[in-house]
Amino acid sequence: MTTFVLFGGTGDLAKRKIIPALYSAFLNGRLDSNFTFVGAAREAISDDEFRERVAASISSHAKPDGVGTPEQLKSFLAKTLYSKIDARVDADFAALKNKIASPDSNATLFYLATGPDIFVPIVQQLSSHDLVGSQARVVLEKPLGRDAQSARDINQALRTYLKENQIYRIDHYLGKEMVQNLLALRFANSFLEPLWNRKWIHDVQISIAEQVGVEARGEFYDHTGALRDMVQNHLLQLLSIVAMEPPVNAAPDSIRDEKVKVLRALHKFTPDEVIKRTVRGQYRAGAVNGQPVVGYQNETGVPAHTRTETFVAIRAEIDSWRWAGVPFYLRTGKRMASRSAEITINFKPIPYSIFGTSQTNLRSNRLVISLQPEESVQLFLKAKEPGEGIRLSDVALNLDFAEASTSRRVEAYERLLLDAMHGDLTLFVRDDELGAAWDWVDPIMSTWQTDTEGLKSYIAGSWGPAASSYLLAQHGSTWGEEFVED
Ligand code: BG6
Repeated sequence: MTTFVLFGGTGDLAKRKIIPALYSAFLNGRLDSNFTFVGAAREAISDDEFRERVAASISSHAKPDGVGTPEQLKSFLAKTLYSKIDARVDADFAALKNKIASPDSNATLFYLATGPDIFVPIVQQLSSHDLVGSQARVVLEKPLGRDAQSARDINQALRTYLKENQIYRIDHYLGKEMVQNLLALRFANSFLEPLWNRKWIHDVQISIAEQVGVEARGEFYDHTGALRDMVQNHLLQLLSIVAMEPPVNAAPDSIRDEKVKVLRALHKFTPDEVIKRTVRGQYRAGAVNGQPVVGYQNETGVPAHTRTETFVAIRAEIDSWRWAGVPFYLRTGKRMASRSAEITINFKPIPYSIFGTSQTNLRSNRLVISLQPEESVQLFLKAKEPGEGIRLSDVALNLDFAEASTSRRVEAYERLLLDAMHGDLTLFVRDDELGAAWDWVDPIMSTWQTDTEGLKSYIAGSWGPAASSYLLAQHGSTWGEEFVED
């Protein structure tokens, strides 16, 4: 790929993630030598003004090892251009075409980091200006749609101009190192597979806790909410990888075929089940890391009395032979006690303890795959404490990837950008996966709309509403941070 065009080039996501990722790829020699980066957005700014913003984004958001030297920055900026774009204005696309080095060569990657409502108008314009040939690729940022119907409408309209294998629906969680490692852990080792089912697993927990609030995105967030922002995409993608059957090989569609089967097998909730199996919350003022923070309703851009959720916990189930009856607990929230993204596999307890009842309250074996802040896999086993008599405690076999490997860490967005440039669709979401995920989320959204009492509040800096602990306690489990060994 020789040209990378970023729509939404002056937006928050571009600044915080996409531009630093592109620059890191450049620093590491991963971009073609004749590469050009074109930022595109509605603001009328010059190439030089855009370059200043690119430099500012790199200095504020690049990782310490992704800043490079002043000369490197200068040569990246020399490859950077800007094009003012309004999706409704033909002439803007003609001007964009002039900025693309070889517009007919299919060597362009278009990244649409914009709202989904303008995906189709942009692609339509690109097509009428002959910018999307049979090899061109288009990356679409999430959320794609607001519900199942709008997502299907967008996908169908895009198909007029693009083939499915030209569409890269991004979910940056799939670009995280440990997500790929989960595939390796499951399918490159023999000892886990016999245990990876309802006979041995008590429950699975997938939790993404954030300390940040809604940052500068109050207005967007209030129209979105945690269910659409995190559950419909990141959490369900993680669930599908944890629960999928072994694919026939590692080809993108073999993996995506298995993931979509899981999403289709998710048990769809009746309105009554939505009430019993979901918890939604909104943070009120509190303190995070000892610093006072305002409540959600006082965030900039958020209307007073809004009922948008900033926390979700769900007891999902997968209707399949492998997983029937195993709860999959999903949880995410803003302004929580700490930042972590973890998958915990809780194994069933031993059938009988030969060590007597005093030892039976010990937690069963568990496998914890931590995506962030650390990248690690920990297997908790029971062992005898040294000394007289038998006293058991939990010990962890700990595989810490930062310690185990000195290879360069590749951030999720960089990995995914490079995959899209190389035409590798494995870590992108196919249209049927997206549809199946929305189909599962839709009944939850519609029941919440009518259930005006269900929104709980929680103090910023806590682990969410108490109802989220109760959701697990009813089925003999606790969230990871709540377990206290006695
Ligand atoms: C984004 C959400 O997709 O993921 C944000 O829109 C959220 O609200 C972010 O903060 C979390 O990503 P990460 O990689 O920081 O855990």
